[in-house]
Amino acid sequence: TDDTNATTAETLVIGSGVAGCAAALAAARAGQDVLLVTKAERPADATSWWAQGGIAVSREHPEEFKQDILTASDGAADPEAVDVLVENANDAVEDVLVETLDVPFDTDEDDAGFAYGREAAHGERRILHVNASTGRHVLGPFLSHLDDHPNVAIREDTAALELLTREGRVHGAMVESDSTVEPIYAGATVLATGGIGALYDRSTNPEGATGDGIAMAALAGVDVSDMEYVQFHPTAYAGDEPFLLSEAVRGEGALLRNDEEERFMPDYHPDAELAPRDVVARAVASERDRTGDVVLDVSPLDFEEEFPDLAAKCDERGVDVETGIPVSPAEHFVCGGIDVDSHGRTSLDRLFAVGECSRTGVHGANRLASTSLLEGLVWGLRAGQAAAADDASPVVVEAPDLRDSDPALPEAFAEEKFGRLRRTMDEYVGLARTPDGLRRASAAVRRLKGEVDAYVRTRTSRELYELRAATVTALLIVRAASENAESRGCHHLVDESADTTDASEENEVHAGRP
Ligand code: SIN
Repeated sequence: TDDTNATTAETLVIGSGVAGCAAALAAARAGQDVLLVTKAERPADATSWWAQGGIAVSREHPEEFKQDILTASDGAADPEAVDVLVENANDAVEDVLVETLDVPFDTDEDDAGFAYGREAAHGERRILHVNASTGRHVLGPFLSHLDDHPNVAIREDTAALELLTREGRVHGAMVESDSTVEPIYAGATVLATGGIGALYDRSTNPEGATGDGIAMAALAGVDVSDMEYVQFHPTAYAGDEPFLLSEAVRGEGALLRNDEEERFMPDYHPDAELAPRDVVARAVASERDRTGDVVLDVSPLDFEEEFPDLAAKCDERGVDVETGIPVSPAEHFVCGGIDVDSHGRTSLDRLFAVGECSRTGVHGANRLASTSLLEGLVWGLRAGQAAAADDASPVVVEAPDLRDSDPALPEAFAEEKFGRLRRTMDEYVGLARTPDGLRRASAAVRRLKGEVDAYVRTRTSRELYELRAATVTALLIVRAASENAESRGCHHLVDESADTTDASEENEVHAGRP
């Protein structure tokens, strides 16, 4: 076409967490000209920045690591995908994080090697970490490295709105920056947009986690699956503005106690506080319903010494760690997403997806701790390599005309819609679900989507597209949950004959495994 001023890239990466950075790095190393766009304005807007516990590696025992992932997944992970993860873990971490980025992972006392951490459902100490702030120590150097890379350009504060598709092939995306909308044409497009925390009132994600990539892909007809498996982290601070209290704290000996000061986890699972995350999250919710507050008792360890960054956070909030840290579950990670193969290829030609927005098959019905940075790294590298190997040139295709739209969206409109969406997801699509609740959620989310779509036809704004992405993603979750009658991992059905609005202990089909 005659659009000679168009922005083009051989590889377009959308998202600036670890997965997007890894895809950009691999494609750039293979000689591609890479454009990474991110709606983030600071590194802390990416969920990877917030990762605490760390990044698991296989060490000398990939088979044991694989078994732990399969068990935590409630038997639903794809063993071949898990093989890809565990077989590539050590090399990917060594090559990129240790040698290229020089991440200052904690070392053991005599500095002879890494201080491997332990977290729930891991059979051995295999988690590399930097205190309990691993994410920022990985993502900071990663972004700086890409900033300096001659083949990579990064555009911040730039949100992808829609994929550019033509005849079953993806040619880039429409993006918005400073209220200007434009197409970016690319030979390969990699979605690395992260998760869905904004769909729930309590989440450990940053607020921009609105499901953008999942929604864009689904609207373009790409296969998406396992969306019912929304993982809740059991130990987020129970007060306002929840923050994560890493599983590593339980890995080092912290205990969970209910309002009667009883340690309750041994009644729920033989591995007690180190049971898989879905089991612990339900147990915490159940004990909160039954007794009141649940606290993380850190007295078995030297909390200030071992977790100074978390101790400082507690201090900032005025939490007295001596009496236990009040905790409750918060949305943490969506195990499903855009279906991809072992190189991050989606069902649409020239479209890749990596990181939390993708569904590789590694997590099944419940993700094992400290495998998300790893999955993002391994699949990011593989997708970047695959995109480069395809070596497709950007093609300028007809772009939708979103340019003449009114950028303003009344603030009250977005607030009201997000509020309704969160109330619906919290009430009906949280830790425990009923068929009736899911029917109500489906009706409510459909209604909401209709209202949002009516606006999308008349104007363009980032907030509106985020709202649309959130409603589309919510609908995918509700639909997947409604179609799956089997309780497994994070998808937990309770008996409908009991009170449908209260996921209390009496109406739970089971508190642990089916
Ligand atoms: C944590 O530190 O507990 C989070 C680790 C993870 O989500 O993988």
